[in-house]
Amino acid sequence: MDLKSVPTRGRTLDYAAGIYDIFEPMLMFGREGEINEQLISLLDIQDFHRILDIGCGTGVITQVVSTALNSEKGGFVTGIDAAGKMIQGARKKRESRRCKFEVAAAEDLKFEDNSFDSILSTLFFHHIQLDLKEKAFAEAFRVLKPGGKMVISDMHIPTTFFGWLISHVSRWILFQPQIGENIRGVLPSLIEEAGFEKPKIVCTYFGYISIFTTTKPISRP
Ligand SMILES: C[S@@+](CC[C@H](N)C(=O)[O-])C[C@H]1O[C@@H](n2cnc3c(N)ncnc32)[C@H](O)[C@@H]1O
Repeated sequence: MDLKSVPTRGRTLDYAAGIYDIFEPMLMFGREGEINEQLISLLDIQDFHRILDIGCGTGVITQVVSTALNSEKGGFVTGIDAAGKMIQGARKKRESRRCKFEVAAAEDLKFEDNSFDSILSTLFFHHIQLDLKEKAFAEAFRVLKPGGKMVISDMHIPTTFFGWLISHVSRWILFQPQIGENIRGVLPSLIEEAGFEKPKIVCTYFGYISIFTTTKPISRP
């Protein structure tokens, strides 16, 4: 039976679930292995950690993260996505004792406060509009443990002509104003306004995808 998507104003990808795994490596220009390795090293994973992957799609990166975890020691990663078909595909191909998937909207998580050691999100925030970006960061802040790390990889202010071209073309071809918000550079201030430490940009790939790291302060300022 088909898994039901949850209601959201975000741009979900139910329609692309069957082909997403073919296109994702193309979007990463074949460098997904290197990029995934970098994301994982930035998460400072311990094998007993509980990790959340927000907007996980078919769970490619979620599964890579899970290889650093030990379910016997309580370690697991949960990938969430609002699109039922994405989660259905993820469960079929990638679910294990240390790699779980749930249908959920990032702006309305059902997890308890302080329940994850770290949070990862890749190529998700350009799928939701500004008010949902704010809510999703507020939810990420709520469910992350104090001192926990958050790593975000997403479209940001382009740094090269190629990056500028690909950002603006995709914003207009896909009719996606949410991309316009990202390329205007809204993410760092939204992250900070949610209560996280000022995010650092670790690097920018292809002139348009930046990796941010931040931490939830031990005590809120
Ligand atoms: C481009 S995909 C990224 C998938 C994966 N993280 C990756 O890097 O390949 C963006 C995902 O966000 C999901 N999405 C859109 N709005 C959402 C929301 N409000 N909450 C959770 N997921 C959402 C879409 O269904 C889609 O699977």
